Amino acid sequence: MEILIRPDAAAVAQQAADILEDYVRAGKTLGLATGSTPNPTYQELIRRHREAGLSFAECKAFLLDEYWGLPREHEQSYYSTIRRELTSHIDIPDAEVHSPDGTNTDYRAAGEDYEQAITNAGGVDVQILGVGTNGHIGFNEPGSSLSSVTRIKTLHPQTVTDNARFFGGEEDVPRHVLTQGLGTIQRARHLLLLATGEGKAGAVAALAEGPLSAFCPGSVLQLHQHATVVVDDAAASKLRNSEYYRFADANKPA
Ligand code: F6R
Repeated sequence: MEILIRPDAAAVAQQAADILEDYVRAGKTLGLATGSTPNPTYQELIRRHREAGLSFAECKAFLLDEYWGLPREHEQSYYSTIRRELTSHIDIPDAEVHSPDGTNTDYRAAGEDYEQAITNAGGVDVQILGVGTNGHIGFNEPGSSLSSVTRIKTLHPQTVTDNARFFGGEEDVPRHVLTQGLGTIQRARHLLLLATGEGKAGAVAALAEGPLSAFCPGSVLQLHQHATVVVDDAAASKLRNSEYYRFADANKPA
């Protein structure tokens, strides 16, 4: 796992956009996360699209997850969110932006359909990830199978609390989501996890340096052959090995 420590969230976004730009230029398949963390990266990609001609026309995109039961037109559905934050501002074809169907009452079929859609597209080339304060990636809450596939999950109460800010109160946060599994995520060819702020420091230390464990779903990055973690100083503050990560970053082989 490569760990890149940057001074602040803006520098994390620059670094992440630099990594993603190569995939975009090659017309690759992008795995997109929602939540607050990737938004500065998305803003930087939008800026490069508008000002530097970065084209997404050949790209496909797959979202990590979707609230189950929310209609797509609900402003907090991840289908609406990713359009608002990224895809409506770039030239990716709308029909190539995929998300689990949170309106399918048959959630098993919804999960299977989504796995099939990812497979049919040839898999995800680079998967953007955030991390929950409890170590979740996607909505694979602690206790998730390390080889799980897209399925329904009940949110952890901590996640309900964390996401209440988007819904105006905890009682309005849906309790269920359809999420890519940890096995699905691990099939992406490159994992790019972003974390900013002191509130993520414990989760970052646990996923990068703690034991590989279902208790910290993000720790599956330790198994992946190509995982990049980009964090700001605050989110890196509990890493025990940060001196080495900074040294390795400054002394990359040519
Ligand atoms: C969102 C997702 C979640 C978030 C995580 C962090 O699609 O899958 O795992 O990445 O909850 O959320 P933020 O970035 O809002 O702190």
